Amino acid sequence: MAQEIKSVEYGLEKIFEGAQDFLPLLGTDYVELYVGNAKQSAHYYKTAFGFQSLAYKGLETGSREEVSYVLQQGKIRLVLTTPLNSRNPINDHLRKHGDGVKVIALWVEDARSAFAETTKRGAKPYLEPVVEKDEFGEVVRSGIHTYGDTVHIFVERKNYKGVFLPGYVEWKSDYNPSPIGLKYIDHMVGNVGWGEMNIWVKWYEQVMGFVNFLSFDDKQIHTEYSALMSKVMANGNGRIKFPINEPAHGKKKSQIEEYLDFYEGPGCQHIAVATDDIIETVRQLKARGVEFLPPPPKAYYEDVPKRLGEHMKKMKEDLKVLEELSILVDADEEGYLLQIFTKPVQDRPTLFFEIIQRMGAKGFGAGNFKALFESIEREQMRRGTL
Ligand code: FE2
Repeated sequence: MAQEIKSVEYGLEKIFEGAQDFLPLLGTDYVELYVGNAKQSAHYYKTAFGFQSLAYKGLETGSREEVSYVLQQGKIRLVLTTPLNSRNPINDHLRKHGDGVKVIALWVEDARSAFAETTKRGAKPYLEPVVEKDEFGEVVRSGIHTYGDTVHIFVERKNYKGVFLPGYVEWKSDYNPSPIGLKYIDHMVGNVGWGEMNIWVKWYEQVMGFVNFLSFDDKQIHTEYSALMSKVMANGNGRIKFPINEPAHGKKKSQIEEYLDFYEGPGCQHIAVATDDIIETVRQLKARGVEFLPPPPKAYYEDVPKRLGEHMKKMKEDLKVLEELSILVDADEEGYLLQIFTKPVQDRPTLFFEIIQRMGAKGFGAGNFKALFESIEREQMRRGTL
């Protein structure tokens, strides 16, 4: 009965049968990136991606070891963290991986239970449950290791009214570029090593109670030169989706292998953020200097009506405009989706962003994989890493 009440309260409806509810997840709480220069990264994400200043901790607030800027747009919260001295262990992460995602934080009702249930099922502990307090209440956080040096932190904030977390102050800035319509995180993709995809699929099933709801093998995801495999994991209410990729053998180097080489191990490959108006969002991003993968060949857009079939009638967007902006289109049984991929957002060819607008489709743009990967290969060619 108690479970039913919670379901109503939080909208924890079950979408994926077979998913287990020992770990009810309310959504993504925040994503923390370790970066070399958080001040400048924050400026980039505000200016280029339209994130808003939310919270800050640093020397001025008594944080002597590291500085963090918290940015928000829609439901998306990004935390950008830089160490303030050479002794801070964050330096080891930066030296090895460069800028990248350290924490994928998940919003939970009970962080102690999340820790107990996941560690009991084999998760390696990262952060024992800790209660953090300030004048606005208390937050309980706990954490476990996932692939590579990446971690999941569970955040219980039902007794907290502050702007982000205890230890942070509100960040008021005179510089506030307008948002560009980013709403929430649709999915976050992990790249893992050769032969490791199924290990992590099993890990998300056993430790987190997720289900594998889509799979793509190297016969589906390949070009003339390279290949990869992917399985999409989702929690019971479908709010959290983590595709897991591993490289596959091809004539040349897989883009996943390139990532693993430069990130020096498994890690988060891309963050897909949702918008309700991809045309306006992408126009803004381009005007603000965000670089995207090169456009697919002209034939790609000529084929769209054929690929979309029935869904083409429902399409509100002008195909010419989509082509002008190099936005990709795909459909599944339930609808269509629009998506586009940025170039890596740091010098190492590692983390990038996807902008996605779902018009009913629940897939990941499998029909675009070939066009997309050929674009990536043209970039790999330029980098000498194909
Ligand atoms: Fe994606």
